Amino acid sequence: MNTINRFIAFSIIALAYACTQSSLTNKRTIVHDLSIIISKQYLNLPVSQEVDRAKMSFEVDGKPELDFDIRIAPSKPDYWVFYDVTPYKGRVLKISYEGNPEGLKKIYQDNAIAGQDSLYKECNRPQIHFTTRRGWNNDPNGLVSYDGEYHLFYQHNPFEREWENMSWGHAVSKDLIHWEELSVVLFPDKLGAIFSGTAIIDYNNTAGFGKNGIPPMIAFYTAHSSDNERQCIAYSLDKGRTFTKYDGNPVINSKEKWNSEDLRDPKVFWYQPTKRWVMVLFERDGNSIYTSGNLKEWNYESHTPGFWECPQLFELMVDVNVNNKKWVMYGGSGTYMIGKFDGKIFTPEAGKYYYGNGAIYAAQTFDNIPSSDGRRIQIGWGRIQQPGMPFNQMMLLPTELTLRTTKEGIRLFNVPVKEVDMLQEKEYTWEGIDANNASEVLQQFNDAISIRIKTSIKLSLSTDAGLNLFGQTLFRYDMSFNQINGFFYSPNDRTSMEISADIIIDKTSIEVFVDGGAFSYAIERKAVPENKDGFKFFGKNIEVKNLKVYPMKSIWGN
Ligand code: FRU
Repeated sequence: MNTINRFIAFSIIALAYACTQSSLTNKRTIVHDLSIIISKQYLNLPVSQEVDRAKMSFEVDGKPELDFDIRIAPSKPDYWVFYDVTPYKGRVLKISYEGNPEGLKKIYQDNAIAGQDSLYKECNRPQIHFTTRRGWNNDPNGLVSYDGEYHLFYQHNPFEREWENMSWGHAVSKDLIHWEELSVVLFPDKLGAIFSGTAIIDYNNTAGFGKNGIPPMIAFYTAHSSDNERQCIAYSLDKGRTFTKYDGNPVINSKEKWNSEDLRDPKVFWYQPTKRWVMVLFERDGNSIYTSGNLKEWNYESHTPGFWECPQLFELMVDVNVNNKKWVMYGGSGTYMIGKFDGKIFTPEAGKYYYGNGAIYAAQTFDNIPSSDGRRIQIGWGRIQQPGMPFNQMMLLPTELTLRTTKEGIRLFNVPVKEVDMLQEKEYTWEGIDANNASEVLQQFNDAISIRIKTSIKLSLSTDAGLNLFGQTLFRYDMSFNQINGFFYSPNDRTSMEISADIIIDKTSIEVFVDGGAFSYAIERKAVPENKDGFKFFGKNIEVKNLKVYPMKSIWGN
C-alpha cells in the first residue's frame, strides 16, 4: 500500500485520536489512543530499534485484549511487524500507547503484512530452515505430531527482533521441512509471559476438555512474572490453531516447595505402565518429576539435580534392539544422562555427556510421533543472529536421536532426519583425492546459499585437518588435542586417523554432524569473508577419501 492510500485508509478508519493523562505508578504517564474499525486481516506497526520500548494496549469493543511493549518508530521505521486482527473484523479496536505518539499515525490495516512481496526472499533469510516472518524466536515449544501435521510452537516476540513479550508462535509442516507459519496462539496474560513448554494429545480425554469425540491438543507452559513461575495449561480443539487457557490455571505453583523463582518449561508425556501422565519440570537446579491422572492435579515425585532449563525425558532402544531400552534425560544445554525410569524416579546410570554444542540450545523432541515411524525427532533453537532483518534467530534442522554402543559406553547420536534429503537438488561425488584437488572441485560451489557437503578425510603427517569457507572454519579436527572446532571429541576407534563430517550450510548458519552423529554442532556462518579462498581443505598430506556435494533447494520456493 503506498503512502497516500495508507493515509486515506487511516483517515477513514480512524474514529478518534485522543490523548489522556493517567497516573500509573507514581509517574504521570501520557497515554495516546487511536480507535479503528477492523476490516482487514493485519495491523501493520512500524518499529525502530532506536527508540525505547513503551507499553501498547489493545481493547476490543471496550474489553482489554492485550498489553505488550513495542518501539513504535516516530519517523522512518527500521522494519514493520504485524498483528493478526482477523478475529476482530467489524469491531472497534482501541490502541493505547505510552510512548512517542508520532508513529501511531503510520499504523495501518491491510490484508497483507508490510513487506509481504519480499517475504522469505530477504537478503539474510535462511533458505532451508524455519525462521519466523517477523520478530524474535527462541526455544521450540509444544512439538507434537497430530493428524498428519507436525506442530512447531515457539518462544516468540511478534513485536520486535529482540526478546520480550514472550508468546507462543506457531507453524505447521507435513514433512518436517516445509513450514507454514500460522497465527500466534498464546499471548501474555495477567499470570505473566508465556514461557516454554510442550504439548500432547489427550486421546482418552483425561482432562475433560474434549468435545464431540475430538481429542484436545493440550499445551503446558510456564506463566512467568517478575517473582514467580507457574505451570499452566491451555487446550485446542481445532488442531492447534487456537487455544483456550484453562480457567483453573496455574496447575502447579510450587514456589512454596523450593522457594525458587526458577521452575519452568514443563515437558509432559504419557507413561503407559502406570497409566499416568508424567511432567518433567526444570526446578532450581535440575529436573523434577510430577505425575497426574487428569493433567490438572499433579503430585511431586522426585528430583534429579544437574540440569538447567528445558528438560526432556524419553526412552530409546539401544542399537535398535527392542529388548534393550534406556531412558535419556537432558536439559537446555543438551548435556544428558542415561538411566532407568519407573514412572516416578529417574535413576541415572551414566553421564553427563554431550552429543552437541555451539549455537544449539533448548532443543526438545516431538510427542505423538506415530508408532509406525517410531523416531525420536528433535528440533533445537539456533542461537544465530540474522543481521539487519525484521526477524531474528532460527530453528535448527530436525534431527533424529538414537542410542548406540560405543567403546566408551552407550551414547546419544544425532543426525539430520532423512526428510532433509528431499532438498538435495543434485549429487556430485569424488573419491580418493588430495586436499588441493578437493578444494579445486569445490570452487564451483563457493557462492551457494545453501549446500550440503558430506566428506571423510584421512590424516597423515598432520595433527589437524579440516575444511574452511572463505577463511571460516567449518570443520577442524585436532587429533593431538582431541578436539573438533575446539570441543573435546574422541573418535570411537581411538587410533583411527579418519574422520567424517556431514556439513549443512545455509545463509547464516552451519550445522556439522561428525562420524554419523557421534558429535554435532551449529555455528553462525560469517557474513564477511576473511579471505578469498572459498572452500579450502587444509592439513598436511591429507586424503579426502570421500566428497559428496548437494546444492540444496529453498524450502520457501525461491
Ligand atoms: C530457555 C528459556 C526457558 C524459558 C524461555 C523464555 O531459552 O530461558 O527456560 O522458558 O527461554 O523465553
